[in-house]
Amino acid sequence: MARPRLWFPRRLSNAALERAQRDYECVINWDDTESSAEEIIAMSASVDGIVPCHSEFFTADVAEKLDSRLKIIANHSVGVDHCDLPALKARGIVVTNTPDVLSDATAEIAMLLMLGAARRAIEGDQMVRGGAWDFWSPSFMVGKQVTGARLGIIGMGRVGRVLAERARGFQMEIHYCNRKRLGPEEEKGAQFHDSPESLLPVADFLSLHCPATPQTTGLMNSTRLSLLPKGAVVVNTARGALIDESALKAAIESGHVAAAGLDCFLSEPGGNPDFAGLPQVFMLPHIGSATVETRDAMGFRALDNVDAFFSGRTPKDLL
Ligand code: DGY
Repeated sequence: MARPRLWFPRRLSNAALERAQRDYECVINWDDTESSAEEIIAMSASVDGIVPCHSEFFTADVAEKLDSRLKIIANHSVGVDHCDLPALKARGIVVTNTPDVLSDATAEIAMLLMLGAARRAIEGDQMVRGGAWDFWSPSFMVGKQVTGARLGIIGMGRVGRVLAERARGFQMEIHYCNRKRLGPEEEKGAQFHDSPESLLPVADFLSLHCPATPQTTGLMNSTRLSLLPKGAVVVNTARGALIDESALKAAIESGHVAAAGLDCFLSEPGGNPDFAGLPQVFMLPHIGSATVETRDAMGFRALDNVDAFFSGRTPKDLL
């Protein structure tokens, strides 16, 4: 029997692509460029599966035009806001994601952003690098201490829970808001809040870990930002859509929010140039899961789902 044909619109890790080429007929976009809706639709007529990233958009319009040959979209991402799941389901296309395997790497980046934003890493680095460091005093470059502060986490899924674990190493007091309260084993003393409105006033540091959905889009708007304690630090490693970026900029300029650490933006790639002039904003280009180990694990997890599907089993990460 002919091997199923898979399309890899982005360049996954070498180990993942080697495994894919061993087991499947593969079409690999070695140029690693983004694909347009038209290219995705055209390619769907010649493959049985696609292994995309969050950079390929399967909107309702695309879903409607996909060729009936395409049977599975095995995402190389945990977030699936780039996929219109009901529209793909209506076309009978199986969709999977890659949870669990990127939690450690993403929590690391959240910690980095939290520390970097609080301790003025961008200002300091630019000053030393630019040869402008010509002064020192006890009142110089004073930041906000992370150790012992209160951390509010919105979305206590896998990444949120790993971040809480890392933050406990800094003796942070953990507060969280989640659709469902965790059991005591998972909560480990963290304080549950049944709404962002209850959580925000105690979040000296706020880290977002929920998916982008119609319900969470614009979650951190000006009203909610104003509920944070004065001098709070906002961290986002989830999705740009969760934050009203103009409202965040205004809150930083007014001094209500002291700093922000952002790995995700409304517009990607590129980010928001309005933040460029604010040294209080520590920015990274959506690299939460970008470690060698995690990229391999994400690729393997996506291929595990493909393997299950083409051998007649239910993929572990079926959405
Ligand atoms: C994810 O897995 O959702 C990350 O944002 C990388 O795509």
